[in-house]
Amino acid sequence: MGILFEAKNVTKIFGGGIFNKRVTKALDKINFVLDSGSNKTKADLTAIAGESGSGKTTLARLLLGVIKPDEGEILYQGQDVAKMKKPELREFRREVQPIFQDPFEVYNPFYKVDHVLYTPINEFKMSKSKTQAKKLVGEALEMVGLRPDETLGRFPHQLSGGQRQRIMVARALLLEPKVILADEPVSMVDASLRATILESLKALNREKGIAIVYISHDLATVFQICDKIMVLFRGIMVEWGSVEKVIGNSKHPYTKLLVGSIPRPNPETLWDELDEKIIQDLENEIYLDPKFKLDKLSSDHYARQF
Ligand SMILES: Nc1ncnc2c1ncn2[C@@H]1O[C@H](COP(=O)(O)OP(=O)(O)OP(=O)(O)O)[C@@H](O)[C@H]1O
Ligand SMILES: [Mg+2]
Repeated sequence: MGILFEAKNVTKIFGGGIFNKRVTKALDKINFVLDSGSNKTKADLTAIAGESGSGKTTLARLLLGVIKPDEGEILYQGQDVAKMKKPELREFRREVQPIFQDPFEVYNPFYKVDHVLYTPINEFKMSKSKTQAKKLVGEALEMVGLRPDETLGRFPHQLSGGQRQRIMVARALLLEPKVILADEPVSMVDASLRATILESLKALNREKGIAIVYISHDLATVFQICDKIMVLFRGIMVEWGSVEKVIGNSKHPYTKLLVGSIPRPNPETLWDELDEKIIQDLENEIYLDPKFKLDKLSSDHYARQF
């Protein structure tokens, strides 16, 4: 119960080394809280949104402990993720399930995809028999619109990108973790199925109390399932609050621009079409303005005030 993840003043810089001299500040002093909810409140279903390159995946990788922050810290249930030892890390790996943007990377090409589903069942002793394990896998696949006979027994390269993504979602559903970190989990899935899969994530949140971080550049799907949203802009968190508040009453010009550019009812293209010049102007005028300061933190609303 309580706070699951907490990011405190997290900064991540890439490059600056011998091989990669170009320095990129991928994230700049990010603060973030993900709550498990209580008997009275529900677990967070929070979106991290922002254009390509704004730092979304970097934040997900930091939360997962795959990379370490240059400044600040990431706590999971009060423990610094970067300093976890083996037993804690094992527990963490079970409780926090990622769904990656590009799922091909996480598959071992020499194993059939069954491996991805059965390994956690065995490792975490989730079933008493083979028949029960098979039933669990079948149910999870069904939830993401896959038939076991058309997916199991195949190698990763024999599936489409969308199918691979859906298997990762099925895996997350199967494990019933405390947190799901989903980085563009349905970007390769057809629009019709996308809505269904997102609804199953939402149901997991509502019915099983699983906290979810949904990373996407697609504000329309954020509308569909999320309660809270953090908007990243060039590594800076420009807004954080309830979806209603942030989208209905955006404080920051960048969010306004995004909301205004949602091409309803077809939300397919959005951020890619933003006028580069407008973004440049925003960056120059607003971020260099000293009165644009981060000065308020609460789990309900957290925004750069200006
Ligand atoms: N390993 C790395 N080395 C150097 N630069 C990196 C590395 N990873 C990310 N970056 C840079 O950090 C910035 C943020 O990248 P990130 O992948 O977090 O963006 P994103 O918001 O997930 O974008 P997208 O929507 O395209 O997935 C980008 O400028 C990217 O080029
Ligand atoms: Mg990304």
